[in-house]
Amino acid sequence: MEQQPARPRRETRLDTYVERYAARTRGMTASEIRALFSVASRPEVVSLAGGMPNISGLPLDSIGEMVQELVAEQGAVAMQYGSGQGAPELREQICDVMRLEGIDAHPDDVVVTVGSQQAVDLVTRIFCDPGDVVICEAPSYVGALGVFRAYECDVVHVEMDDDGLRPAALRDALATLEASGKRVKFLYTIPNFHNPAGVSLSLPRRQEILDIAREHDVLVLEDNPYGLLGFDESPRRALRADESERVVYLGSFSKTFAPGMRVGWALAPHAVREKLVLAQESSTLCPPSFSQLMISSYLAGQDWMGQVKAFRELYRERRDAMLAALHDLMPTGTTWTVPEGGFYVWLTLPPGLDAKAMLPRAVTARVAYVPGTAFYADGYGSQCMRLSYCYPTPERIREGVRRLAAVIEEELDLVETFGPSTHALQRSYDTPNTDLT
Ligand SMILES: Cc1ncc(COP(=O)(O)O)c(C=O)c1O
Repeated sequence: MEQQPARPRRETRLDTYVERYAARTRGMTASEIRALFSVASRPEVVSLAGGMPNISGLPLDSIGEMVQELVAEQGAVAMQYGSGQGAPELREQICDVMRLEGIDAHPDDVVVTVGSQQAVDLVTRIFCDPGDVVICEAPSYVGALGVFRAYECDVVHVEMDDDGLRPAALRDALATLEASGKRVKFLYTIPNFHNPAGVSLSLPRRQEILDIAREHDVLVLEDNPYGLLGFDESPRRALRADESERVVYLGSFSKTFAPGMRVGWALAPHAVREKLVLAQESSTLCPPSFSQLMISSYLAGQDWMGQVKAFRELYRERRDAMLAALHDLMPTGTTWTVPEGGFYVWLTLPPGLDAKAMLPRAVTARVAYVPGTAFYADGYGSQCMRLSYCYPTPERIREGVRRLAAVIEEELDLVETFGPSTHALQRSYDTPNTDLT
C-alpha cells in the first residue's frame, strides 16, 4: 500500500511565553476588527471609523518657530527629567483652562499625565483590585474599557438617552450592586460630547448625578477631552465645578491642540493627588518635559482660544454634513444621535441588523465604521455603530454615508428574505446588569 510520506512538522508561531503571562493579560486582546482597519485605511475607503483629531488647521510654521525658540531658550530644561507631578507653570495654566468650565482649582491638585489615557490608567491602578466594579455608560469609551479590563475590573454599564446618563438607571444599578455586596470603586463618565454616543449630560442631570454619588458614597471619574469643542454655546459647567471632594476630573490637550504632544491631566482631591503622583512616578518617572514646555509656550504665546474656535468651526461643518447626509440617505428605521460638539454620531440600525456582521460588506463597499460592540464590556451593542465625522471632508462624509446607506438597504433586503441575524441582540439597560461573573 502506498503511503503518504510524513510531512515535516510545520514551524508554528505560537507564543512560547503563553504559560508565563500574568492573569491580567487575558483581558488584553487585540480588537477583532483591527485586521479590517488595515483595509479600511486604504485611500479608496471612506473611513468614518477613526477618531483622530483633524490637525490640518494647526499653524505648523509658527509651531516650528516655537520649537526652535524653546530649544534655544529652555533647551536644558526641556531635555531633562522633570517633576513627577508635572511642570508647575503648566499646572497653573491648566487651572486657567479649567476655569472656562467653572472649575476653581489649585495647581497643587493637578497631575500632568501622558494624555488623559494615562490618567484613566493611573486612577484605575490606585483604586481598583480585580473584581471591583466600575460603572460606565452604555456605551463607553473603548480606551477606558481596555484599561478597566487590564486591571480586571467588572464593568457595569448604565443606560443613557439623549440627555446622557439616566439618573434613575444609575440609582437602580447602585442599589442592585449594594444589595449583592459588590464594591463600586467609581463611576466613569464622559459628560460632554460623548465618545462614542455623541450625547451630553443635561445640566439638571449633572446635579442629580452628583447627588446620587453623594448618597451612595461613590467617586466620579469625569473624563472631559471634548469639553471645549461644543458647537453652539460656551463651555458647559463641569461636574467637578460643583463637587471637589468626590470627583476626579480628567482633561487633555489632544483635541484642543495636538494629540502628538501626549499631554493630559488629572485634577484630584488632595489625598488622591498624592497617590496619583506616586503612581505616575512608578509608571513614567515624570511626564515628558519637552511636551509640557511646548504646551506651556503655546498657551502663553499663541492665540490658542482662536485655534479652538477654528477647530469648533471645522468640526461643526463636518457634523452638519454628516447629519444632512444621514437625514437624506438613510433608510427608514435607522436612528442616530445629534451631537452638539465633539467628533461622533451613534447610529442604531433597523431591527434585525448586526453592525459587526455587516462590516466586511461595508468595507467591500468602501466605507468603514466601528461596530457598537467595541464600546461595551459585555458583547452588546451589535445593532449600533459609531460614525466619526472629525476627519474626512464634508464631501467624503456624504459619499461615505451614501455607501453605508446602500449597504444597509442590501442588508434589509437580506433580512426580509432570510430573517434577522441571530447576533442582532440589543440589550436593554433598564434592568442593570449584575451578572458579573
Ligand atoms: C473619552 C476619551 N477619553 C480619553 C481619551 C484619550 O485621549 P488622550 O490620551 O489623547 O488625552 C480619548 C481619546 O480619544 C477619549 O475619546
